[in-house]
Amino acid sequence: MSNAEDHAGTRRDFLYYATAGAGAVATGAAVWPLVNQMNPSADVRALSTIRVDVGAVSEGSQITVQWLGKPVFIRNRSQSEIEDARSVDLSDLPDPVARNENIQGEAEATDENRTLDEEGRWLVMMGVCTHLGCVPLGNGAGDYNGWFCPCHGSHYDAAGRIRRGPAPTNLPVPLAEFVDETTILLG
Ligand code: FES
Repeated sequence: MSNAEDHAGTRRDFLYYATAGAGAVATGAAVWPLVNQMNPSADVRALSTIRVDVGAVSEGSQITVQWLGKPVFIRNRSQSEIEDARSVDLSDLPDPVARNENIQGEAEATDENRTLDEEGRWLVMMGVCTHLGCVPLGNGAGDYNGWFCPCHGSHYDAAGRIRRGPAPTNLPVPLAEFVDETTILLG
């Protein structure tokens, strides 16, 4: 056998084994998601939840944290922001749905249905404009003292509800809860 034939034979053998190996991997991959769903490993859970210490977030200010590759706004609202957001007539809202993952089913977009605590001090929302995905400006920005997306002019109010502009829906509220006085668990 020439060197060239010898080489071709080796290559065929390699391809054969590589294909057999790929089949074995594919079978394993089909089983893995089922096992994974039933018993999520600690590292998978750790990726989808984060703890945020909000002890240093003073009244009337906010922080932005990265979660699952996206910004999340966490705001400690002032009393006037709370009153402002709670006095809004629901018929003035372009999107009447709460968009709060902590509430099962469709709830009205009242301020109470969007905040983390009953008092309404804490508002947690995805910081991604629902129009085309820019990150809105906060700290009372826009015509409704909330957030403003300068990309195409979407105004959100102090509860993160869309009030004017092309964004179709309110900023979504992700799964979140206080696990102690100053720690919010996201996810
Ligand atoms: S992306 Fe926010 S207004 Fe267009």
